[in-house]
Amino acid sequence: MSSSDLKKQAVARAAIEYVEYDDIVGVGTGSTVDFFIEYLKPIKNKISGAVASSISTQEKLEANGIRVLDLNDVSDIPIYIDGADEVNSNFQLIKGGGGALTREKIIAGASNKFLCIVDDSKVVDVLGKFPLPLEVVPMARSFVAREVIKKKGMPVWRENFITDNGNIILDINHMEIFEPILLEKDLNKIPGILTVGLFAERPADHILVSSEKEVIELEKK
Ligand code: 5RP
Repeated sequence: MSSSDLKKQAVARAAIEYVEYDDIVGVGTGSTVDFFIEYLKPIKNKISGAVASSISTQEKLEANGIRVLDLNDVSDIPIYIDGADEVNSNFQLIKGGGGALTREKIIAGASNKFLCIVDDSKVVDVLGKFPLPLEVVPMARSFVAREVIKKKGMPVWRENFITDNGNIILDINHMEIFEPILLEKDLNKIPGILTVGLFAERPADHILVSSEKEVIELEKK
């Protein structure tokens, strides 16, 4: 296994400690979460079920015999566990590299606690080196791109990719995001953007970071 995968596996294993008996667990999307699902399998009878943030995660949970619940049938999600593309010391995140940002943001918002699991390559001082994903209604693609350019962003259409909600993704390249909450609010005002891949208004509550040596819980600045 590559060193990057070993780190993802280690942080996924550590996240299991945060799951409590009878919990409904929100489950994110991506390669780090794929390892988490493997560790969730042996304790599947100790939890009440899982709420999936994508069709792909739902299929993996079901393939592992983990009960998947519809968010509409659930009133309380004690914990949401998901990866990220970038994290900063205020626990603000860029997410959506896998295109699942809308359902991820909904579950993060619906959960009491959001535990983010990353390897040390994802920890940055300033968000934005990783292109910021926007989920956009298809008919608004060019309009949204023009609006983003006015805000000095460089949007790139993620071609041949359709989200679970039938929309497209624009990735904003070359942005240094010094004020994540303001940018998230500002982008949210553009009609046609369904979801901004900045998780700043609702940041993570805890972040676990793995290096080659150890897994640590990040301290908030
Ligand atoms: C998917 C996401 C993922 O959490 C993010 O892309 C990180 O993925 P990985 O664990 O594969 O590095 O936001 O939409």
